[in-house]
Amino acid sequence: MSEYSPEPLNGLKRTDYCGDLRLKDAGRKVTLMGWVHRRRDLGGLIFIELRDRSGIVQCVFDQNVSNELFEKASVLRNEFTVAIIGQADQRKVPAKNADLATKDIEVNVEELHILNTCKPLPIQVSEEQVADEGLRMKYRYIDLRKPRMARNIALRHKITKSVRDYFDSKGFYEIETPILVASTPEGARDYLVPSRVNPGKFYALPQSPQLYKQMLMVSGLDRYFQIARCFRDEDLRADRQPEFTQIDVEMSFVERDDVLEMIEGLIHHLFTDTLGIEVPAKLQRMPYSEALEKYGSDKPDLRVDMVIQDVTETIGKTGFVILDNALEQGQKIKGFVVKGKGGSTRKEQDKYKDFGQNASLPGLFFIARHEGNVKSSLLKYLGEEKALTLCEKMGAEDGDLVVLAAGESRPLSVALGKVRLDIANSLNLLNPQEYKFLWVVDFPMYSWNEEENRLEAEHHPFTSPLPSDADKLESAPLEVRAAAYDLVLNGCELASGSVRIHQREMQERIFKGIGLSIEEAEAKFGFLLTAFGYGAPPHAGIALGLDRLTAIIAGETSIREVIAFPKNTNGIDLLSGAPVTVTDEQMKLVHLKYDLD
Ligand code: AMO
Repeated sequence: MSEYSPEPLNGLKRTDYCGDLRLKDAGRKVTLMGWVHRRRDLGGLIFIELRDRSGIVQCVFDQNVSNELFEKASVLRNEFTVAIIGQADQRKVPAKNADLATKDIEVNVEELHILNTCKPLPIQVSEEQVADEGLRMKYRYIDLRKPRMARNIALRHKITKSVRDYFDSKGFYEIETPILVASTPEGARDYLVPSRVNPGKFYALPQSPQLYKQMLMVSGLDRYFQIARCFRDEDLRADRQPEFTQIDVEMSFVERDDVLEMIEGLIHHLFTDTLGIEVPAKLQRMPYSEALEKYGSDKPDLRVDMVIQDVTETIGKTGFVILDNALEQGQKIKGFVVKGKGGSTRKEQDKYKDFGQNASLPGLFFIARHEGNVKSSLLKYLGEEKALTLCEKMGAEDGDLVVLAAGESRPLSVALGKVRLDIANSLNLLNPQEYKFLWVVDFPMYSWNEEENRLEAEHHPFTSPLPSDADKLESAPLEVRAAAYDLVLNGCELASGSVRIHQREMQERIFKGIGLSIEEAEAKFGFLLTAFGYGAPPHAGIALGLDRLTAIIAGETSIREVIAFPKNTNGIDLLSGAPVTVTDEQMKLVHLKYDLD
């Protein structure tokens, strides 16, 4: 720590942000304020990289110009807070980093004010070294100074602003819904808040504004959106936080396609108009069943082709015990083509086999077309002609590799879907700067909860079945498709929504389907059911994950990188220490006692 005593601002006013200076500013006198990113001493010259949230600019202290100023600059250390006044000039020595926005300019310093000093840093700002994530979170205010983090936060702001502008232009109202609510049914556990004035009673934090936005439609407010905080007590992952943000939307007097088109407009406005990234005006659509069949996932990553194909018929009986047995048990043989990997080595194929093992596929077979030859451990069973016919059918040309496996149809597709992605990843085929959107539509209405031995709503219980399937709700519930849709971006579930039920009778049928008695439904969502009795309009909506959207655009793999103050994977805010124990007095006030066993 230096002996230097910090100076007050004394009326100094900033004229520019560091990162905004360009060659056109040469000759201007500027006042900048920020942090010392790096200091380099070159004999009679000291170079300071001065940083604020906008970027970095080089500032020069020349001993020949002022010895006193030079001496003062030699006190500076990383992350000291300073104000400088100086003349912007064309940079004499070109910047090493050609990508630096301010590479053509430097500031010859005439005045230096040290506004604050800085202790030795627990994490470095100026080095791209990977600091321990726990430390980064504990000292988040330092971590956020990193140019990459500042860019992510700025991007998030830009996205949010673009979203607000778009919905405003389409006649939506931004409406806040309560944070202290009764439990909402999104399938995760609730965070609970005890009520002091209502002993023994609890609020829940909303898992989403779902019920309120539907109520707003009953209110006749017609078009609603909200940048909404949601809270879910669930297992955390790279793309899940206990509190996260949705771009939440609901519209009245609309059908599915009206919502999809409104969101396509949003995506186009955001990507193309705001961020300058070309995306198609209309986004591809695919039924859920096709997504599972072709990509083994309800969120296919379409940046890679590698479509899963059923080749059971083509292969037929071969005399190869493993495949023949599978066929006898009614299993399927499926596979996909890896373009350009016909010449893959044994080692590469072993790696692909490991991917198979990780996806619970013990047997992975290959047919390689390489320099006019066909190579495969299956060749002696298939014969060359059949192997070639198979390759032709699957679209595998000379130079390509066919990956095959056998198993029960649906699990086989799901496993091959994982292998497909692992191979694509290992070949660096998933370009983070490519944006492939896909609407997955016609989700199943229900799924079977093995543990509880009952049907549960695949989306949520306010989702309408497809009218054409409604007559099967009781007789064949697992065959019923819902008017539900997901928007997938690069294999990530970005958004989810549905046409809602707006008539009490249908809502009661769905509650019954998931084993919720009318009394239970009344107790939980009676207010919604009551509201439906007072002229609820047809309505539909969707919610996009703002954190996921921002992370993908920023090229980050974890949403923690685009949230100012995220929690760690144990749900702990390492900066504030939350959750914390509270005093007995506080517990008493809310009528609670511990039982930690
Ligand atoms: P759903 O539960 O699918 O739908 O959530 C919508 C979107 O929110 C994002 N998301 C999350 N992001 C970060 N951390 C989490 N824990 C998390 N959970 C969800 C995802 C997801 O696609 N009420 C319905 C929407 C509707 O029907 O209108 C809902 O909340 O990107």
